[in-house]
Amino acid sequence: MNVKVNISNRAGASFPVRRMHFDFAAVPEYWVNGSAGLTHFMTALSALFPAGEKYFIDSVRAVRQHPAVQDNEELQKEISAFIGQEAMHTHEHAGFNTAAQKFGHDVAALEAHTDMVIQTARKYAGRALKPLGITQEMFDLLGTTALEHFTATIASQLLVNQHIQSLMTDPTMSAMWYWHAVEENEHKAVAYDVFESIFGKGMKAYLARCSSLTVAMLILFVVQSYFVMRLLYADKKLNFASVRDIYTYAYSPSRGIISGMGREMLAYFRPGFHPNDHDTHALLDGWKARLGLPS
Ligand SMILES: [Fe+2]
Ligand SMILES: [Fe+2]
Repeated sequence: MNVKVNISNRAGASFPVRRMHFDFAAVPEYWVNGSAGLTHFMTALSALFPAGEKYFIDSVRAVRQHPAVQDNEELQKEISAFIGQEAMHTHEHAGFNTAAQKFGHDVAALEAHTDMVIQTARKYAGRALKPLGITQEMFDLLGTTALEHFTATIASQLLVNQHIQSLMTDPTMSAMWYWHAVEENEHKAVAYDVFESIFGKGMKAYLARCSSLTVAMLILFVVQSYFVMRLLYADKKLNFASVRDIYTYAYSPSRGIISGMGREMLAYFRPGFHPNDHDTHALLDGWKARLGLPS
């Protein structure tokens, strides 16, 4: 992998925080195998990360002193490493997003839009849920837990879907996405364990997490699709070839990365669900060796 990696902090957790130093200067404009459709699809995801992952960090940090969590030393170490990994992801995706700007793709506007959506959802849902005894902190934790299930699931699909992998032809971008995908699966249980410590395993917790996943996925689908269309339209690439590529590699039943997520996403609705039920250790070990990532 053409990138310098440092373990910046272990924090005693079960996974490390790796400091990455990607250089995006030589990344071509349409870095997904020359496809404008797929490049903008991935860029639309990348535009969500700086504000989205900051939200995850803030949400978990806001409840780490909750009585149900504060004395759990092991979980506190996992939280520290989770915050460290998400901070690195934000940093590297922000670096790529800035680099994409030079081609005229206004990713900065999409980053700002992401933040606006998050803050709007927080404001209105926070008010609506107050009568049900769900505080702003609890709403944020529910949202984070749901979205962490999404990121872990799309990440594990990226690591197994050879159709999309065959198109990740740029070495810098493929290394960044695979590194991020590995780490999303390393820390996939952290937000959930915090959630379960605080909410417990009762009916209220179950209904809260199921409804938050449903709402979060609807919002995410609408926002990401809007970003893709906006990038394609501004780039004058909103055409048949772009839509065909996105359908084939994101949504088609045989090759799509999003359609491949169905079973794992639905597992969240099982009453006894836990993120580690889906064992990705062997998958991650293989990828860490392939990418030269220290563990
Ligand atoms: Fe992340
Ligand atoms: Fe994450």
